[in-house]
Amino acid sequence: MSKKLVIGAAGQLGIELVLALQSQHGVDSIHIADIRVPENEQLLKSTFLHLDATDEGAMHKVFEEGQYEEVYHLAAMLSATGEKRPLAAWDLNMQSLLNVLEAAKEGWIERVFWPSSIAVFGPSTPKTNVPQDAVLDPTTVYGISKQAGEYWCRYYHEKYGIDVRSLRYPGLIGHRSVPGGGTTDYAVEIYEYAALRKPYTCFLKADQALPMMYMDDAVRATMELMAAPKENIRIRTSYNLHAMSFTPAEVGESIRQLIPEFDLNYDPDHRQAIATTWPESIDDHAASADWGWKPELNLDAMTKVMLEAYQSRVIHIAP
Ligand SMILES: NC(=O)c1ccc[n+]([C@@H]2O[C@H](COP(=O)([O-])OP(=O)(O)OC[C@H]3O[C@@H](n4cnc5c(N)ncnc54)[C@H](O)[C@@H]3O)[C@@H](O)[C@H]2O)c1
Repeated sequence: MSKKLVIGAAGQLGIELVLALQSQHGVDSIHIADIRVPENEQLLKSTFLHLDATDEGAMHKVFEEGQYEEVYHLAAMLSATGEKRPLAAWDLNMQSLLNVLEAAKEGWIERVFWPSSIAVFGPSTPKTNVPQDAVLDPTTVYGISKQAGEYWCRYYHEKYGIDVRSLRYPGLIGHRSVPGGGTTDYAVEIYEYAALRKPYTCFLKADQALPMMYMDDAVRATMELMAAPKENIRIRTSYNLHAMSFTPAEVGESIRQLIPEFDLNYDPDHRQAIATTWPESIDDHAASADWGWKPELNLDAMTKVMLEAYQSRVIHIAP
């Protein structure tokens, strides 16, 4: 069992995680799966499996044949898209996780990674420095599915000894892939527009602070969590994870330090209602204490990296 499988590999996080796993372990020990073919040539140097994660039979065939050391199960419908198709979001997010956990119970997977989200928090959760054991109070179907998923993970760990590990990611910001329908997607788009010297209209209000993380930190956190000794993993629901907290206006200011003429406007839409229920910052002491988590990039450092990356290549702007 030395192979690793990433499900949802064509997504915003999947692309970045696969690139990091390939460079650490080599393309041959990584298998990638998705319902669509990833638009990234480097990714396709690893074996690609066309797979519907909700299809129990197909999933179990892949796991039984693959006998994986690690499965990173990233396929999900995100917060904003999930509100448009709540039952489909529930079906995808829950059924696919149960398919993976059952396969681990069969002994076909040694270790599972499954991401949760700050969407598990809600109006009754403290707004700042949310403690690890805060009230979970999700208001979106996405958040409800992540809350339920966290408890399914702990259940399979306690009942069947499954080594399943999880992180509550904040909004993820990277330049190597496009975001997939979340409430924090503005924080990627804004850099694309700024790099093109185009005005950007933000779909959240100017002072909506949210927890965010640069993608390289998120990928490193994931790999460090998975590499930690089993006995160090005390939390089997999902670890709080924090790097930075900022508002759209603060990103605009950070960009203007490098592009003074950047024009930023606001036209909040349905995603503002979701963001309002989420906290501003997270207490991640448990992650630091248990497996040594430490973020590296702050807002200004991230702005520099994002703008340099977008400016250095021809980029595609979503309509
Ligand atoms: N991006 C973020 O800011 C963020 C924040 C918190 C948590 N997360 C979590 O991280 C994980 C990855 O998020 P992402 O941003 O990469 O999402 P994404 O939407 O960009 O990617 C999801 C991938 O899953 C694939 N997929 C969808 N249905 C599938 C199915 N039935 N079978 C197989 N594959 C299927 C999609 O084709 C897509 O490539 C998700 O679980 C998400 O909830 C992401």
